Amino acid sequence: MQVQVMDHPLIQHKVTLMRKKETGSTDFRNLLEEITMLMGYEITRDLPLEDIAIETPVAPTTGKQISGKKLGIVPVLRAGLGMVQGLLNLIPMARVGHIGLYRDPETLEPVEYYCKLPDVQDRDFIIVDPMLATGGSASAAITLLKDKGVQNIKLMCLVAAPQGVQRVNKDHPDVRIYVAALDDTLNEHGYIVPGLGDAGDRIFGTK
Ligand code: PRP
Ligand code: URA
Repeated sequence: MQVQVMDHPLIQHKVTLMRKKETGSTDFRNLLEEITMLMGYEITRDLPLEDIAIETPVAPTTGKQISGKKLGIVPVLRAGLGMVQGLLNLIPMARVGHIGLYRDPETLEPVEYYCKLPDVQDRDFIIVDPMLATGGSASAAITLLKDKGVQNIKLMCLVAAPQGVQRVNKDHPDVRIYVAALDDTLNEHGYIVPGLGDAGDRIFGTK
């Protein structure tokens, strides 16, 4: 199974707070943004740098800046929205696309209802969605981007089931997956166990 579990103590602590059933929407949203920032720090480690001549108040010097890499963040609606701001805090120049998918409660198959993307030419993308359960939604979102010509895609999730990781590995072996937690399994309704429940409902206070 190809997946990078981000086991930094701050991430692990915050995931535990998010899992607790008594954690309310405001805390849940804030924790998700904080964890996304912590994960984003690591996920962006391979961004290319270039030298730039600058002057400090004391002397001229050479600094580093991120060289013209075009980045896109794509949340899978709805729950992925909760991870956008955390990445934008780190990469304010990134463009944001949206892919609307919901899981049919009977078949667990993803149903597409929205897609709006920035210019994909030479742009690398990070797809964000807190939950990777059967992997159907993530796999469909990746296929959608690839069909538009996107070549470099990373998938960033909060909690994954092994079944979801295996599905994305099989369908898209070129896509690197980053998660904060790899859980045990799925239950008969396709929910991650132990998981954290329905991420969209917990973010937006719906039921
Ligand atoms: C959730 C979650 C993922 C999907 C994961 O979305 O945010 O997109 O389920 O399940 P899968 O790996 O089995 O496809 P949901 O369909 O509940 O929609 P929502 O975000 O609008 O609540
Ligand atoms: N979607 C969720 O929000 N939670 C799960 O456990 C599985 C899919």
